[in-house]
Amino acid sequence: MATNPVPRFPAGFLWGVSTSAHQIEGAADEREPSVWDAFTARPGRVRDGSTAAVACDHYHRHREDVALLAELGVDAYRFSVSWPRMRSKGGPDFYDRLVDDVCAAGVRPVPTLFHWDLPLGLDWLQRDTAERFAEYVSNVAARLGDRVATWITLNEPAEHTLLGHALGVHAPGRRLLFDALPAAHHQLLAHGLAVRALRAAGATDIGIANSHTPAWPASPDRADMEAAGFYDVLLNRLFADPLLLGRYPEGLGELMPGDVRADLRVIAEPVDWYGVNYYAPTRVGAPQETETGAGGVTVPAGLPFSLRPVEGHPVTDFGWPVVPAGLTELLTTLRDRYGDRLPPVVITENGCSYEGIDDQDRIAYLDGHVRALHEAIAAGVDVRGYFVWSLLDNFEWAEGYTRRFGLVHVDFATLRRTPKASYAWYRELILAQR
Ligand code: FCB
Repeated sequence: MATNPVPRFPAGFLWGVSTSAHQIEGAADEREPSVWDAFTARPGRVRDGSTAAVACDHYHRHREDVALLAELGVDAYRFSVSWPRMRSKGGPDFYDRLVDDVCAAGVRPVPTLFHWDLPLGLDWLQRDTAERFAEYVSNVAARLGDRVATWITLNEPAEHTLLGHALGVHAPGRRLLFDALPAAHHQLLAHGLAVRALRAAGATDIGIANSHTPAWPASPDRADMEAAGFYDVLLNRLFADPLLLGRYPEGLGELMPGDVRADLRVIAEPVDWYGVNYYAPTRVGAPQETETGAGGVTVPAGLPFSLRPVEGHPVTDFGWPVVPAGLTELLTTLRDRYGDRLPPVVITENGCSYEGIDDQDRIAYLDGHVRALHEAIAAGVDVRGYFVWSLLDNFEWAEGYTRRFGLVHVDFATLRRTPKASYAWYRELILAQR
């Protein structure tokens, strides 16, 4: 474990933690179903056969979790509002209480409006879902906008498109490969319409949480370089270019449905800050004749790229390589790519899965990434905040309860919470930055 103090971050820098509704709330029988409930009910879709029906039971224990936030001393708490729960009796009251309690703890509530739990029956392949989303966002803003200043529209539309609609390893479980692109367009449109709805409700601090990963070519060979370039477009530019530049990367706009030019004006509604979720770089090679995989993701043959393990770095329990410098690299790349079109950045997720309560490996991961973030700031990237994923061990999507990302351990049999060594470490870091 590194013992040097972390360098000082700029005054006003926001230290936070993140969670999402489906992964922690439980109380599935007290809300409408989402696509994730339907997906997890299908045999073989979740590694340990589990569901999020109970998860951390945060819905009934949120007071205890808010007390953990208060004790941790974070400035901000990123959670998500479940769209299916907002449509259910008791749901709006729950988020009212949660926001009240978070505020009373002196913590800024930062709700994400969509973190993958689409109401069952809605479908991102349908354009209409974007309009329905904007209506729901207006309802949430009307309910919480008197206490919530900072909003996140969508979480990782890239992963939701790739894993949920192209490869079928997440809900809704479609394997459409490139025919999944309309789901990307409709999520982007939903984002733009949500920004307009939030502005109409008076919001002045709006962002999105996009995943980014440096796409490292497997070798300097031309075929590997081309494949990595293509992967970079799909993962890093498909969502950022329309948002920040008002256009799709070359060749992709033609594959999108509808009047793309008019939609792009909505999609490019200015945001106040840009959220980046970073976990690890990805090593990409030329297409292969068999499926390839790395870091828990497998891609079929027939795509214009293959995935290769990143070598020479330690890996987390998930098999994700630990490369703090990748965070500096991706932030300086974003700044160089988008220049003054890139608003201030907030790291909306960063973290790792490891077993154990004396989690020195998590401390080492977080310490390295916080330092790498400081280097990006020193290199001139305007970064305003950092959120650890996650407050609690939780339902890690297709991996069920087999991956533990929390600063707080959750015993899923008793639902007992136990702060880990990394919780104490993060608390000290935040205190030292005051
Ligand atoms: C991100 C998701 C988040 C969590 C982490 C580990 O892709 O946004 O919900 O699952 O990965």
